Amino acid sequence: MMDWTDTYCRAFHRVLAPSALLYTEMVHANAVIHGDRSKLLAMDPSEHPVALQLGGSDPDLLAQASRISAEWGFDEINLNCGCPSDRVQAGRFGACLMREPALVADCVAAMKQAVGSSARPDVPVTVKCRLGVDDDDDFEQFLGFIDSVAEAGCGTFVVHARNAWLKGLSPKENREVPPLRYDWAYRLKSLRPQLAILVNGGIAAVGAAVDHLVHVDGVMLGRAAYHDPYVLHRLDARLTGTPERPREALLRDYLPYVRAQLERGVPLKHITRHILGLFLGERGGRAFRQVLSEGAHRPGAGLDLIEAALGCTRADALRRSA
Ligand SMILES: Cc1cc2nc3c(=O)[nH]c(=O)nc-3n(C[C@H](O)[C@H](O)[C@H](O)COP(=O)(O)O)c2cc1C
Repeated sequence: MMDWTDTYCRAFHRVLAPSALLYTEMVHANAVIHGDRSKLLAMDPSEHPVALQLGGSDPDLLAQASRISAEWGFDEINLNCGCPSDRVQAGRFGACLMREPALVADCVAAMKQAVGSSARPDVPVTVKCRLGVDDDDDFEQFLGFIDSVAEAGCGTFVVHARNAWLKGLSPKENREVPPLRYDWAYRLKSLRPQLAILVNGGIAAVGAAVDHLVHVDGVMLGRAAYHDPYVLHRLDARLTGTPERPREALLRDYLPYVRAQLERGVPLKHITRHILGLFLGERGGRAFRQVLSEGAHRPGAGLDLIEAALGCTRADALRRSA
């Protein structure tokens, strides 16, 4: 997710969910080719497995960017066919590609070929898509899109199970207003069992995620994972049959990474902004958030601020403030 799932966020989510596949922010193919890769493709070894999401619609550029990204170490290359923003539409990529299955197939074929002849030929090329755009309401059209792209070599689709409305809605509204239709993702899986289908959109609780897994191969959590990151941990524990660990223990596992980043000169606020929701809904959770958000931008802010924030969540601190 743009501006959210940077390397600091992903390293945190990895501590919470050891078995999840994590995704980067969308990066345009041109940026991978011409930009500062040490920034754009920054990744800590602890993050694996991690998928890089590419934006673009030029098969040659996407091919080059895919090869570079696979060799850089990403475990999957995912093509964005779901973003509805004006900027993305102007560049003719993202969700508007739902109406161009032949072009998406060309992109995927070129990306697969480039990765296949790279130093890491087994890195999969996958697609994240919507059900359609604007007033599309034809399951056969959606299936046609999937079939064309699958024929070009894509075996995994992340389906954000609603349409994107290209006119009149902001990207935020496009994540909320068009109705969710999980049944289309389920139907797709039942008709094309050989494809891996992951469902996305509005999944915020462990029970809901587990229910989806009766019908499809995977679930992708977006906003819930960011705002309430402990849900990622609870889901991971449920799916792997391991005991849930307390929030503080998880955060302590992240601290050696945070210390290493501080030593490299990364400002604390770049890291702590991703952990603000860890105690969401818990007693002391608001104070935890407040201590971090008020203190992290101060010069010299370090690990002691995180200790102070953690202190607000402990029983003795809660008793004192009662
Ligand atoms: C701040 C933000 C940035 C996003 N950036 C991307 C992105 O770069 N690529 C993408 O495929 N989806 C992006 N999305 C959409 C999410 O991946 C997801 O499809 C959408 O939020 C619906 O899932 P959810 O209800 O679990 O959040 C973004 C969402 C948000 C809130």
